[in-house]
Amino acid sequence: MKIMKRIYLDHNATTPIHLQALEAMLPFMTDQFGNGSSIHTYGREARNAIDDAREQVAALINAKSPSEIVFTSTGTESDNYALKGIAELQQSRNGGNHIITSAIEHHAVLHTCQYLEKRGFEVTYLPVDRHGRIQLDDLRAAIRDTTILISIMHANNETGTIEPIAEVCEIAQEHRIPVHTDAVQSVGKLPVDVQALGVSMLSLSAHKIYGPKGIGALYLRRGTRLENLLHGGSHERNRRAGSENVPSIVGIGQAAALAKKERESNVEHLNQLTDKLRQGLHEGINYIHENSDPENSLPGTLNISFEYIEGESLILRLDMEGICVSTGSACTSGSMEPSHVLAALGLPPRLAQGTVRFSLGKDNTEAEIDEVIEKVPKVVEQMRAMSPAYKKL
Ligand SMILES: Cc1ncc(COP(=O)(O)O)c(C=O)c1O
Repeated sequence: MKIMKRIYLDHNATTPIHLQALEAMLPFMTDQFGNGSSIHTYGREARNAIDDAREQVAALINAKSPSEIVFTSTGTESDNYALKGIAELQQSRNGGNHIITSAIEHHAVLHTCQYLEKRGFEVTYLPVDRHGRIQLDDLRAAIRDTTILISIMHANNETGTIEPIAEVCEIAQEHRIPVHTDAVQSVGKLPVDVQALGVSMLSLSAHKIYGPKGIGALYLRRGTRLENLLHGGSHERNRRAGSENVPSIVGIGQAAALAKKERESNVEHLNQLTDKLRQGLHEGINYIHENSDPENSLPGTLNISFEYIEGESLILRLDMEGICVSTGSACTSGSMEPSHVLAALGLPPRLAQGTVRFSLGKDNTEAEIDEVIEKVPKVVEQMRAMSPAYKKL
């Protein structure tokens, strides 16, 4: 039986683990199994490894001190911690109840905001333009005396659109409002620098940067106060209770160090491949539209609407050809619900349903992109040949 080599173009959903990250983790699953809270040698080994990883993550985002990094279980937990943590603290202080976010956030932020609305908070969801960017005037107009938090993602997982976070922070500072950004997709691809951005909180996740799944981090600028999500022991400087997941923390640290070292060369490679894919698709297929702004989006993300095509069917057909892509975020694909991000961009349902996200990674090759450029137009043509609307053209 011939085994088909698959081409993975879904790196915004998750990335394969970097072998060096895996190798760094393994001893902490076997011989070095200590609990970071124990004071004997096993415990100290684990503690040192956690401390090293914290420094590596801090260095990747230019935090002033490793103590500003809290390890969490996922990017989702980091987002929940930031939003609920600020909201609950303010509630206990009677300090305001209004949050500003955008309509295109990941569900980890959006559903947390909806949860907070049920508990009496008011949330403004800023609209976005055709390319998915918020408008700073909308932000200025939304700010109230009662605003306690602004949470805007750094880059969108579906379209790759980059939001103007430094400008958001400048406006927020005039009103002394803390800013959280979900940088799960931008870390490792953009030069994420918490000093240059000016954020108080930033979420990241290891499995998007060639680290293991189930480990994330929240950057908390010194002085940022928030209520805890988890209560128990005094782990993470009393900010997140629970024995640390040492192997995964070592994995996120190693992935962060590698991302810092390799980011520029990875990005150059990603940009070349993305341009080639963009050009190849435009040359090989008519009636397609790109949804992100090529001048202002993440390297490696290409979000394309194919007219007269149903996106989920295209994905399944491409999977049979050995090409793995997705419709939107990993959490919504398969749900058949039109993506809230594409709806916010103003895309008519007809186009939103025919949208596919190609997200490239550092290990993709030119030969793979050549194969994709050859196969996708053929599959699209076959599918359109069965579409009554297309046949009428
Ligand atoms: C922008 C964004 N935020 C948050 C998350 C959630 O991260 P995790 O999978 O680590 O929970 C994702 C994952 O797709 C994401 O793309």
